[in-house]
Amino acid sequence: MAPTMILAPLSDDDVAVAAGDYGLDTDAFCAVLRERGLTQLSKPPVTLLQLLEYHRVNGTLPATAAEACQQALLLLCSETRRPADIRDLEAALKAAARHVLTTSYVRYRPDLEQPFPNEDELVRQVVAAMGKANQQVADKHRHGLRDAHAKSHGVLAGELRVQPDLPAHLAQGLFAEPATYPVIVRFSSAPGDLRSDQVPVQRGLAMKVIGAPGPRALDDGFTTQDFLLVNHPTLPFGNIAEYAKLQDLLEKQPRQSDQQLQLTGAAARVAAKALTRVGRPLPPAVETLAAANDHILGETFHSMAALRYGDHVVKMSAAPRSANVKALTGSHVDRKAGESALRDLVIDFFAHNSAEYDIRAQLCTDVDRMPVEDASVLWPEELSPHRTVAVLHLPAQDAYSDARRRYADDVLSFSPWHALEAHRPLGSIMRSRRAAYPASSDFRHGFNGIEPQEPSDVKELPA
Ligand code: HEM
Repeated sequence: MAPTMILAPLSDDDVAVAAGDYGLDTDAFCAVLRERGLTQLSKPPVTLLQLLEYHRVNGTLPATAAEACQQALLLLCSETRRPADIRDLEAALKAAARHVLTTSYVRYRPDLEQPFPNEDELVRQVVAAMGKANQQVADKHRHGLRDAHAKSHGVLAGELRVQPDLPAHLAQGLFAEPATYPVIVRFSSAPGDLRSDQVPVQRGLAMKVIGAPGPRALDDGFTTQDFLLVNHPTLPFGNIAEYAKLQDLLEKQPRQSDQQLQLTGAAARVAAKALTRVGRPLPPAVETLAAANDHILGETFHSMAALRYGDHVVKMSAAPRSANVKALTGSHVDRKAGESALRDLVIDFFAHNSAEYDIRAQLCTDVDRMPVEDASVLWPEELSPHRTVAVLHLPAQDAYSDARRRYADDVLSFSPWHALEAHRPLGSIMRSRRAAYPASSDFRHGFNGIEPQEPSDVKELPA
């Protein structure tokens, strides 16, 4: 290995790989590095080893950079430790160098997408079936709702803080430069009807970034970049042909009671446990229905399908970053907490607390094992981990005033196609959403007689 490779500053990715190779919890190590302002110290290989070793022994890192330097000097001056340190250092650096030399990030090109021959017809069928369900639900409530993710649980103003010092492959599109953007976030549940929060269905986090600079994926004249995320990493019916087979089910859903849905969920969880015990993969329907009913703010949310990431291709996700939302991961919703349990939890939390989420990009490094056209395939983290590219900061606030609910539910629309060209949605599922979202939004706005608005300023969100 050339000496310059060893002495060159490491990227955040290399540091993470070295931490993993050193047997540490990569996320925990990187998080405490950032918290304590030690990122710069982790870049020179010679100080990285000291940090790795300190973390291995103490389970954390020195409180300040000055203390870290002092510890590092003490360690380096200790004659007896040096040979072992150097062997460890070499191993960690070799792993980091291997990562640098062998990882190649797939470059975006239009022919990564391969439309189905009858795709337009399949999309037409899906949109028509959704329209029927939408009409039924509107008749029931005498009010137009979203055809999916109808029920909101919280609507928040916040900031997206693009991280400084991202390596070139992560500094792309909206994330090309360190910057802070205002955002509106809407938490929701997947059904296109107002179900009890006791029904354990998939949950959503939609984030609308306002003032995103750059050419648009569609000529819409907006400046918003929406990221629509769900608390599951894959879409079991991962292309439009499979998805179209679901439509019968979706059309029937408005006629099912909450109790029927709750029972279906409970049965699916029993089936999932039994299959997992015998090591069998879960059929897609079981996987979708078997969700646990946990606190929505502790969930990790995923784009499920791929999108362009400037020169590359990614799936995006949002994961709890601040300790207060991490602590909520896996905490069950109380069965007695009522139909609006999630809304109440979100209001209570943000009445006194702020929260932070890591906004992460998982770059595609292998078009066969990380396909763009099949959203049912989990992209393996060992091929490409999720990397934090920005922090979503949500300050304490009134998360669900009546004015906010009305604005978010009735006026706003979120869509993956409210996008920069640099974040063009990819694959047949994403292409189908180009027709589905405006159809649902137009129906809702038309039924309710409300003008849609796409915000250009976060102040448009009522307090
Ligand atoms: C990659 C998989 C998908 C994800 C992650 C996803 C996520 C979401 C989320 C989070 C929302 C709520 C947005 C809000 O808060 O306003 C939403 C709404 C919606 N989704 Fe999806 N979705 C996916 C696939 C699909 C597909 C395949 C279709 C249909 C072809 C679809 C149709 C809709 C519709 C119609 C709405 C309501 C739009 C409106 O009225 O404003 N989604 N989706």
